[in-house]
Amino acid sequence: MKSLEELRKEYEDYKARGLKLDMSRGKPCREQLELSMPMLDTLDSKSVMAAEDGTDTRNYGVLFGIPECRALMGEMLGVPADNVVVFGNSSLNVMFDVLGHAFHHGIMGGTPWCRLEKPVKWLCVVPGYDRHFGVSQYWGCENVCVNMLLDGPDMGTIEELVASDEMIKGIWCVPKYSNPTGNSYSDEVVRRMARLKPAAKDFRIFWDNAYGIHHLYDDNRDEILDIISECAKAGNPDMVYEFASTSKISFPGAGVACMAASAANIEDFKKQMNFQTIGHDKINQLRHVKYFRETESLDVHMRRHANILRPKFQMVANIFDDELFEIKNRGLVRWTVPKGGYFISLDVPKGCAKKVVKLCADAGVKLTGAGATYPGGYDPEDRNIRIAPSFPPLDELETATRLLCLCVQLCVAEQDGF
Ligand SMILES: Cc1ncc(COP(=O)(O)O)c(C=O)c1O
Repeated sequence: MKSLEELRKEYEDYKARGLKLDMSRGKPCREQLELSMPMLDTLDSKSVMAAEDGTDTRNYGVLFGIPECRALMGEMLGVPADNVVVFGNSSLNVMFDVLGHAFHHGIMGGTPWCRLEKPVKWLCVVPGYDRHFGVSQYWGCENVCVNMLLDGPDMGTIEELVASDEMIKGIWCVPKYSNPTGNSYSDEVVRRMARLKPAAKDFRIFWDNAYGIHHLYDDNRDEILDIISECAKAGNPDMVYEFASTSKISFPGAGVACMAASAANIEDFKKQMNFQTIGHDKINQLRHVKYFRETESLDVHMRRHANILRPKFQMVANIFDDELFEIKNRGLVRWTVPKGGYFISLDVPKGCAKKVVKLCADAGVKLTGAGATYPGGYDPEDRNIRIAPSFPPLDELETATRLLCLCVQLCVAEQDGF
């Protein structure tokens, strides 16, 4: 381990470089966006714009999406097309709206959550996705943390909480290649989730399968059980809404999003949709179907994404191994080595996350804010930092990761006092 003086000198050298790097959000990089450009060639002014059932995709209508796009999204999630509704470009938007529906109108004839005497509580698996926590907070929920373990959330705690408190109305889950830990729920966890016995009859699992096909490796992939059929088997067919989108498959700004749920849940949400829109962008739905059915399979396409992302994830892991090895052996830091998804979760020494993020920012490298992976931005141990390797080019990622490691070493050396 280098001395405090050496580390400080190295840090000042980084500062003098005037870096301006951003590793803060899990966005696809330019090369990844280029992969989907041929999709734009699937339709032009001479194309037949009809869906399989003859619907003119240019016109109004078809609230649930064209049948072939529902089928495509259903295949992606492993659920029948009839259980899938296709929306606009953002699944987060759909989650927001489903919560809005529950608050204003209630779920399946239940009391609207905004009329309840006490605030609704929402379970948040931590570390987790900041925007999920923001949505439940926006609607006035009291976010309640439950820890993520190696094979999924702490089910014992979840079972106890939901069974004993009828104000707990839902939970955010990212079951596969989770944001930010990258781990996936085991079969046992999925089954226990499906068998929950919530005190609230209108309790819902928000199953955000955002990274369902986002593997980094061909031969080492996580697969999870289908929550919709597990809930049905467990006698809880209506307890889950599943969400996904092609944001990190085609374009985050112009993909298609979907929700999969039981027929009864879809019928219930339709009451809101009927007022909300006359139909989403069906030309974009057609474009996606044509591309992924006629030009390039989803699997091949995702392998191309993986070929761009894998070296980035591996580089970060290698630098962590080299630079943080000693500190890791002292039990002060740990990080995840995901097989898919968009993030790595780094735990730095307790009380150091904010400081590490600030040191990086002062030297020109922007990371996801410390605390962002907890509701309200409050990480009780001030330990967790979400690493998003996808966006920067490899050389910038290397510089940013080395600086990050230096900042962690600096914090440890300062704590040690030498
Ligand atoms: C877990 C998770 N869900 C949803 C989203 C956003 O999805 P969309 O682009 O479909 O709104 C993200 C983006 O990072 C995410 O990590």
